[in-house]
Amino acid sequence: MQLCALPLNPTTAPTLVSKLLVTLWNQSNVLSSSPDVGTLGLLWVLEKFPWISYSDLWTLGGVCAIQEMQGPTIPWRPGRQDRDVAMCTPDGRLPDGAKEQKHLRAIFGRMGFDDREIVALSGAHALGRCHADRSGFEGPWSFSPTVMSNDYYRLLLGEKWNFRKWNGPKQYQDVGSKSLMMLPTDMALIQDKDFKKHVERYAKDDQAFFSEFRDVMVKLLELGVPFTSKEEDRMTLAPSS
Ligand code: HEM
Repeated sequence: MQLCALPLNPTTAPTLVSKLLVTLWNQSNVLSSSPDVGTLGLLWVLEKFPWISYSDLWTLGGVCAIQEMQGPTIPWRPGRQDRDVAMCTPDGRLPDGAKEQKHLRAIFGRMGFDDREIVALSGAHALGRCHADRSGFEGPWSFSPTVMSNDYYRLLLGEKWNFRKWNGPKQYQDVGSKSLMMLPTDMALIQDKDFKKHVERYAKDDQAFFSEFRDVMVKLLELGVPFTSKEEDRMTLAPSS
């Protein structure tokens, strides 16, 4: 919290902001226990560092969190501008977990992502969980939802999955422990042969997953951003330990 007294400039400050985020992250065990703590933490950082845009802080928070959860280091640069809600894209453009491969290709294809990139992005579901009071779906995808790994792919292929019998939306449950879940869109990745070949590749090779995930995250975070900086201006953040 001392950091707010430091003289900040936009070149060095992202590293300081990221350190602050990491501190908050580590203190609050954000992801699985209380996602709102993460949001509150980011809002607090925003108050202390008002030069950063709200939307840059969110992507910086994401990059920082992935790195701290032992995932790849994702090069990042500022440039997102906060806009009035009237300028936002309409609702209904996020993927719907209840659907299948055709829907995934329609949603991600519109943004220029191919099959390989759709499968790589989906590996983020090694992290976190579904919440019945949010999406209606419930449960984590992996046994270690605060550690980034290729477990999502290994579990998709290695476990036996049945429909969960419950009073909720259609989702899959692992037969072995009955504690994991998959969405219909997750299962689509092994039901479709063009998706499945990448699931198999990432399940066998975590380095290939990390490297391709890093590249596709950069693409996702930078899509449509009116940068004045160049690609070589991207920065990587020092790990907290
Ligand atoms: C492929 C299409 C996708 C679908 C259908 C989908 C669907 C969902 C759903 C339904 C949830 C649960 C929300 C809740 O109940 O709180 C969720 C959570 C999550 N998704 Fe996705 N998602 C997709 C792609 C992605 C991508 C591209 C990323 C990141 C690169 C991502 C990262 C996450 C994470 C980390 C969570 C856990 C959040 C938490 O723990 O609160 N997802 N997703």
